[in-house]
Amino acid sequence: SACKKSEGGAGADANTINVGEFASLTGKEAAFGQSSHKGTLLAIDEINSKGGVLGKKVNLIYEDNQSKSGESATIARKLISRDKVVAILGEVASGRSLEAAPICQQNQIPMISPSSTNPKVTQVGDYIFRVCFTDPFQGKLIANFAKNTLKVTKVAVLTDVAAPYSVGLATFFKEPFVANGGTIVADQKYNGGDKDFKAQLTAIKTANPEAIFVPGYYTEAALITQQARQLGINVPLFGGDGWEAQELVQIGGKAMEGTYYSTHYSSEDQSPLVQDFVNKYKAKNNGEIPDAMAALGYDSAMVLADAIKRAGTTDEPKLRDAIAATKDYVGLTGKTTLDAERNATKGAVIITIKDGKFKYVETVNP
Ligand code: PHE
Repeated sequence: SACKKSEGGAGADANTINVGEFASLTGKEAAFGQSSHKGTLLAIDEINSKGGVLGKKVNLIYEDNQSKSGESATIARKLISRDKVVAILGEVASGRSLEAAPICQQNQIPMISPSSTNPKVTQVGDYIFRVCFTDPFQGKLIANFAKNTLKVTKVAVLTDVAAPYSVGLATFFKEPFVANGGTIVADQKYNGGDKDFKAQLTAIKTANPEAIFVPGYYTEAALITQQARQLGINVPLFGGDGWEAQELVQIGGKAMEGTYYSTHYSSEDQSPLVQDFVNKYKAKNNGEIPDAMAALGYDSAMVLADAIKRAGTTDEPKLRDAIAATKDYVGLTGKTTLDAERNATKGAVIITIKDGKFKYVETVNP
């Protein structure tokens, strides 16, 4: 596995607080880890430039899981035993958060996922938190969007059965969609990493849906949309936050025009807080516009720093309690209040792709 890297200090000593991070910095979902990590780093830099927390600098120790399953638990173990981190930030993909969470729970090291939305992540135990909304909310808002905005009742679903996120979001979409009079006319499956979706799409075409829901990640979502168009399927395709990455358009090209997905934030949000972040992020990252993972990475680090300050210590049980008590923390993705299940309740935004660009459509509040 990749070597550890650290930012913000020379290493652990009496003057630093070690915080761990595991991320998909390379591999199939590299866009997730890269964005989330850059957002996290910006937060750590800001925290340190204002004197750190409890009079100490925060030392972010991060490691790449290469988007592979099996790596994240190993990394969590190393961050805890080797680096003596007080808390761990990560991951974006729910499947990889689910791998590290039991290690954090067993060792009583708080873990804050910036953007894993599957309910099971925080169900691992009382040391596991997230600063984003969950998929029962996301699935329902997508179901409402399909019914009320797309005005479709016959939908096909194409699920990545290898990703807990995808399996969950498919279910959380289907239940309310069907309860509100919709029909799932085709229910097809694939495995993350697949490249050819023609068989599933041919079955979907035969079922004659009015739209296709793809609750997966951006690489496959782009290939699926492209292949659907090649097969002469012209109905809208839509997805959830897993679609969010520049790569969606880079891979899918023109086929992505007129598709939709839901996510956590829009860089077009004109609030001074968001615009200030967008400008700082662009300045630091060659003009790149921060996406939802960047914003949530930033918020996750800020929520942790805020909790360390309130706890007045990095002693883990007290730090855990302070994170759990997070209330109305104003961040880039709205206010973070952690409920008894250690989840946040936040609004979502719908994005469409127009002229190769991501365009804000609407905000959906809980
Ligand atoms: N919510 C996704 C998951 O749980 C990850 C994700 C978050 C992807 C935000 C893109 C943007 O796997």
